[in-house]
Amino acid sequence: MFATRLYARIPALYGRANFLAASAATTRGHGRRSVLAALKAQHRPLRQLATAASASLDPAASGKPTVDAPAVGYWSLFCASMVFGIVVWGGLTRLTESGLSIVEWKPITGAKLPTSDYEWEAEFAKYKQFPEYHKVHIGIEMDDFKRIYFMEWFHRNIGRLFGVVYLVPAAYFVAKGKVTKRGAMKLGGLGLLLLGQGAMGWYMVASGLEKELAERPEAIPRVSQYRLTSHLSLAYLLYAGLALYGWNVLRTNRLARGKLPHADSLRSLLQTPEIASFRRKITAATLLVGTTCLSGAMVAGLDAGLLFNEFPMMGDSLSPPLAQLWHSFYARNGAMWPNLFENPATVQLEHRILALSTYFVLSALWFRGRKLPLPRSSRVALHAMYLLANLQVALGISTLVNGVPIANASAHQANSVLLLASALRLYHSLRPLPRFL
Ligand code: HEM
Repeated sequence: MFATRLYARIPALYGRANFLAASAATTRGHGRRSVLAALKAQHRPLRQLATAASASLDPAASGKPTVDAPAVGYWSLFCASMVFGIVVWGGLTRLTESGLSIVEWKPITGAKLPTSDYEWEAEFAKYKQFPEYHKVHIGIEMDDFKRIYFMEWFHRNIGRLFGVVYLVPAAYFVAKGKVTKRGAMKLGGLGLLLLGQGAMGWYMVASGLEKELAERPEAIPRVSQYRLTSHLSLAYLLYAGLALYGWNVLRTNRLARGKLPHADSLRSLLQTPEIASFRRKITAATLLVGTTCLSGAMVAGLDAGLLFNEFPMMGDSLSPPLAQLWHSFYARNGAMWPNLFENPATVQLEHRILALSTYFVLSALWFRGRKLPLPRSSRVALHAMYLLANLQVALGISTLVNGVPIANASAHQANSVLLLASALRLYHSLRPLPRFL
């Protein structure tokens, strides 16, 4: 009974190609026992390889680790989840029009929330010197000011906390030799991205504090959509880098310690042309998801979701008239291209087109992926990606038709990160397995 079950599992354990070779042996009359023996012998070198690699995991044994320590992987994934939280809070800060309430950038001393009435009055007085107070929040009371101030202060402070949670352990892991040279370089790159993100955050806020915004009656004090999009892009890049790095470290460790189930057949499977081609398509689709996210940030930055609150129509037809999409009001030095990034009607149309294209591409890949012999982790990621894509479109449409309610818009933003994560996870699960020797 047990032998029959084991025999039935051979294709899963050893891969189709090896199974066929073994079946040939059966037809030559060698029997099940000798087939299993032949398959085991065939894979002995790989098992020895895993054991050798596992031995070289110990830095004390060889001097230098060949694989980053698993703790580094778990910590990296924790950092990615922190980035997710900061993105969501940042979105809420923008949606509640709180982002310009702190008018200075003091990286260290700014970490303290005002405590006395005197300190609060001083912060409020500074805020009143800037255009947002006069054009958006004119006449707000101290309690309302405290509320918007807290939103921005908390966003900055979880950013600061993240800086510590990332930089201190990263330095420790490098100093203690817990990561390979390559791993240390990756940690360094992500650290630079993090510092760049802090600087970009302030550069973005500064664009909404320009005093000349008060002088032009038609100008709305809000941050530049270009800088908002750059700030969000860096956050998505940081998230993607941390998640991919974390998954990679954990998978490599499991493989090196011989704990990745059916590693041999998985290795063969991931090298088949069918899977390699599917992985390339998933890579392209992930980039498309990222591009759609950036176009969404442009919509958010221009408050373009407050126009055309209907779907699929935009006014009388599926698209506004060309004269509205390509208007000389947005031209600079006679060039009309700024309409692509500065005209809210055009930017919203672009987001709709990109979003629906992304949705159709992801649906097609879901249908294709279902028919492929994908590993279990890829299958889970594939279904999650398709589910989240459906949710993303539903949340986008409801955000639009309801005039951008805060909870709805925030859910749309949070889900975009989860969608990106599922696409990255799928891509990662299809990457070829590394070799150690
Ligand atoms: C794959 C599909 C989609 C993706 C990946 C996506 C992604 C995004 C992202 C990342 C934002 C920026 C959020 C922020 O920074 O607060 C955004 C904003 C927005 N999206 Fe989408 N979106 C998708 C589909 C849609 C659809 C189908 C619609 C409606 C037709 C839509 C309407 C909007 C609107 C109105 C905003 C601005 C919300 C605001 O002002 O906060 N999205 N989108």
